[in-house]
Amino acid sequence: MTASASSRLVIDYRNATVDAVGPTHGISDAELSELQPYVSEQHDRIVNEHRNGVQRWQDLPDNTANADEVVEFANDARKTYRDFILIGIGGSSLGAIATIQALCHPYRNLLSDEERGGPRFFVLDNPDPEKVRATLETVDLSRTLVNVVSKSGQTAETAANFLVVRDALIQAVGKEQAARQIVATTDPENGILRQMADQEGYRTFPVPPGVDGRQTVLSAVGLIPAALAGVDIHQLLAGAAAMRARASSGDIRDNPAYLLAALSVLADTRHDKSMLVTMPYADGLFGLSDWFRQLWAESLGKKLSTDNEVVFAGQTPIKALGAIDQHSQIQLYTEGPNDKLIQLIAVGAYREKVEIPSPPKSATELSYFRGGELGQLLDCERLATAWALTETERPNITITTPTIDAFAVGEFFYMMQLQTVMAGALYHVNPFGQPGVEAGKNATYALMGREGYEDLKKELLTEPEDAGKYVSTP
Ligand code: PA5
Repeated sequence: MTASASSRLVIDYRNATVDAVGPTHGISDAELSELQPYVSEQHDRIVNEHRNGVQRWQDLPDNTANADEVVEFANDARKTYRDFILIGIGGSSLGAIATIQALCHPYRNLLSDEERGGPRFFVLDNPDPEKVRATLETVDLSRTLVNVVSKSGQTAETAANFLVVRDALIQAVGKEQAARQIVATTDPENGILRQMADQEGYRTFPVPPGVDGRQTVLSAVGLIPAALAGVDIHQLLAGAAAMRARASSGDIRDNPAYLLAALSVLADTRHDKSMLVTMPYADGLFGLSDWFRQLWAESLGKKLSTDNEVVFAGQTPIKALGAIDQHSQIQLYTEGPNDKLIQLIAVGAYREKVEIPSPPKSATELSYFRGGELGQLLDCERLATAWALTETERPNITITTPTIDAFAVGEFFYMMQLQTVMAGALYHVNPFGQPGVEAGKNATYALMGREGYEDLKKELLTEPEDAGKYVSTP
């Protein structure tokens, strides 16, 4: 596929309309039309902001120079290292996890070195001592590349995990060699990680300024791990660019990102759908729904509107996986409270075909499998779920990708980011920034005794007099 190929995702929202699920739960044509003037106005604002240097995440698909540098670095590293540890959390790791899960062998780490063609991939996001210890015991530190990723350079989980891994690396290979095995992705100028990288001489790549962590998947943040795992990152960018071209209209019905934003926000604000479920029918796309969950939650969950009024906005994102969640969540989705909009993700053609062997003659109850195939079964399950949801008046949308490849994943990334930006406008909140996350980060610094946070620590550790009353002890 060439870089100028067109977007291929198909959005089918019939099952979210009045015609399919009735007026209480379904969105009408009139509601979409009513929203159009405001969407047009907000589209112009977003375009203008971009022209004036804001909304810079939109430029990442063009960052091919940076991608070339990443590929050159990754090609060397793929030959040198047996293991690769990504240290980062939230926006600094979820995009890479989603990309690798979608585009690499599901058991990539278990393949032989030749079959894998690049280092094994490990992620340290949580500072969970058991997982960190297990990772250090599993990798061959003398042949491990460590990529520490932090935009701010100071996130406690990332900093702590990095100090642990750096120390283990120094003990294994010595200080000078350890510095050669570390690559830092961080702000080009600011932050403690930048300072350490400069002092200790790590190779660095920039987190582009003016882009929030959760929008960095198409920058070095997401591209380095992806390229190390052998993903064609130029195709990722090409897919994102194709979606950007397709989503350049201010018309809700012509712009898939605006359409999805309008449907989600109308479902929430007019039809009480306070939750948005993303349910791919492909194991490879489960990470994408996890990445989207963070994007939607952190961008839209805001206390204040852009006019500084208290609004407590947001729609709770839920990740689900077809068909597994048909045996778990779907009971709740079809018969529990009708408070969800469900976006199903369908795959036109799976990358593998596995025929279902004919059952023994005596197993007559399984004879319907004769001539069948696993992808066909999975897709029938998706159709069955869409039908069951619609029958019970649960609005649902189907987004279909013709197959799972780097181009499609790039399309999803771009579309979902623009969907989120427009949803922010429709909720009248700023989708950028994450004051709630920062509050939690500050409380952690205080509890861990960081200088400058003494007052907050005192406040946090002061127990109310009746605290014991609410604790159940054995
Ligand atoms: O989207 C965001 O901005 C956050 O989720 C951050 O990515 C996350 O908190 C990690 O921050 P940092 O990259 O500064 O370590």
